[in-house]
Amino acid sequence: MYTEQRLLENPPVTLALSDCKDYLSKMPDNSIDAVITDPPYNIKYKYDAYSDNLPFHDYIQWQLEILGECTRIVKPGGSILYLNYPELASKLFWDASEQYALVPYEIITWIYHQHTGGKPFRKGTRLWLWWGVEREPDYIGEEALKGQYRNPTDKRIAKRIEQGLAPVDYDWWHYEQVKNVSKEKTAHRILSRGSPGL
Ligand SMILES: C[S@@+](CC[C@H](N)C(=O)[O-])C[C@H]1O[C@@H](n2cnc3c(N)ncnc32)[C@H](O)[C@@H]1O
Repeated sequence: MYTEQRLLENPPVTLALSDCKDYLSKMPDNSIDAVITDPPYNIKYKYDAYSDNLPFHDYIQWQLEILGECTRIVKPGGSILYLNYPELASKLFWDASEQYALVPYEIITWIYHQHTGGKPFRKGTRLWLWWGVEREPDYIGEEALKGQYRNPTDKRIAKRIEQGLAPVDYDWWHYEQVKNVSKEKTAHRILSRGSPGL
């Protein structure tokens, strides 16, 4: 099944419903700036239309093929940001770097504080794998990674603020859960400040 829907004109946003490999295979080489993707994690999650339970090597092979297509369509100096569980992400980070023209740039740990209930030791961590295509990414979005000091009245910190300086984020991000029923619906700073046009 394939459908496409224009959601916004400015900035232009199109939503496509398709098997991602079919869709990627129709996209031209070196045609986009970045891929940001959150694939299934092969954890037997009960999706409506997809069985999330492949043999380990089949799953890794599938993900590598998708990452190969992503490498082909992203321009040199563009970025691929790929989310997965830590065990799978650590394998894919290096396997994909060896197979394709991908330069490992950063691994960002994404932490959920607590789950609302259920079994203990559910995964509260995901890793965002970040590669540059052919070279380190041209666009890092450093402005978006600047935060606010927690102790602005400290003399040394006050001086830094006066100088227009700001703290920068570490390589881990901590987000409380925001669900469809949550009151909080605001865009996170990382998105709203980092993406031109949003
Ligand atoms: C981890 S979830 C992503 C959730 C999403 N980030 C969100 O917050 O709603 C993985 C998604 O990939 C979709 N998916 C599974 N196989 C796919 C395929 N072959 N092509 C495109 N999407 C697929 C699943 O239906 C599911 O919605």
